[in-house]
Amino acid sequence: MDLEKLVEYGRLVVILAPRRYGKSSLLRVYLNTQNRPYILVDARKIISEPLLGFRRVFYEVLSEELTKVINKYKSLGLRIRELFSRVSGVEVLGYGVRLSWSKKKGVRLTTILDLLDNVAGKQGVEVVVAFDELQEFSRVWYRIPSLLAYVYDNLSRIKIVITSSEVGVLYDVLKLSDPSSPLYGRVVGEIRLRKLSTSEARDFLEKGFQQIGRDVGIETIEGYYKGL
Ligand SMILES: Nc1ncnc2c1ncn2[C@@H]1O[C@H](COP(=O)(O)OP(=O)(O)OP(=O)(O)O)[C@@H](O)[C@H]1O
Ligand SMILES: [Mg+2]
Repeated sequence: MDLEKLVEYGRLVVILAPRRYGKSSLLRVYLNTQNRPYILVDARKIISEPLLGFRRVFYEVLSEELTKVINKYKSLGLRIRELFSRVSGVEVLGYGVRLSWSKKKGVRLTTILDLLDNVAGKQGVEVVVAFDELQEFSRVWYRIPSLLAYVYDNLSRIKIVITSSEVGVLYDVLKLSDPSSPLYGRVVGEIRLRKLSTSEARDFLEKGFQQIGRDVGIETIEGYYKGL
């Protein structure tokens, strides 16, 4: 099944493949070509600045992503601004929103997701929340499965898409068949990327050159192919 169908009929979808297989590219292309508003969190970015604290970086990324949604979808954006302006720990500014990461005064992550689900419901849309390389996140935040289970069970307007280059680690984190796991028994749609075969790769390059109007000989194609 393709990614769109898995997202349409499911609640939680994972894209799995080793490093450099094109997971992030597939995710970005998918998010930009489907028509739901989306929030994309790159887990590597979140954990890349340990001195700032991952909660702070995470909240900054969420603020940026929500701001993009507000500016891209006018009427949804107005509702988000209106609802978020009543929540403590959220600043609604001229250009978008800023979520406070302060542990005491900051807004809870589940509150943000509840509000997003609520606004999406009123607006009759679904929102995709995507985590690129989710397993990286789980290294600093072991409660991530609880959050995913909460969204899965309660927030019907939010779809989750995850990528991972470490299949084993991801499934160790999600523990779908472990009754003690928050995600036990939940259905996960899965996409596994594979490397192109030699002839598929050749064909792909040939079509690519044709599309940009370059007629290159088979030797050039072979040359590129060997260089891949
Ligand atoms: N369909 C495609 N056609 C051609 N090049 C592609 C395609 N998808 C991805 N690439 C290229 O392959 C490289 C790896 O892609 P990408 O970063 O999406 O993979 P990844 O699986 O997310 O890798 P990583 O594990 O490093 O995060 C990039 O340089 C990207 O531009
Ligand atoms: Mg990637």
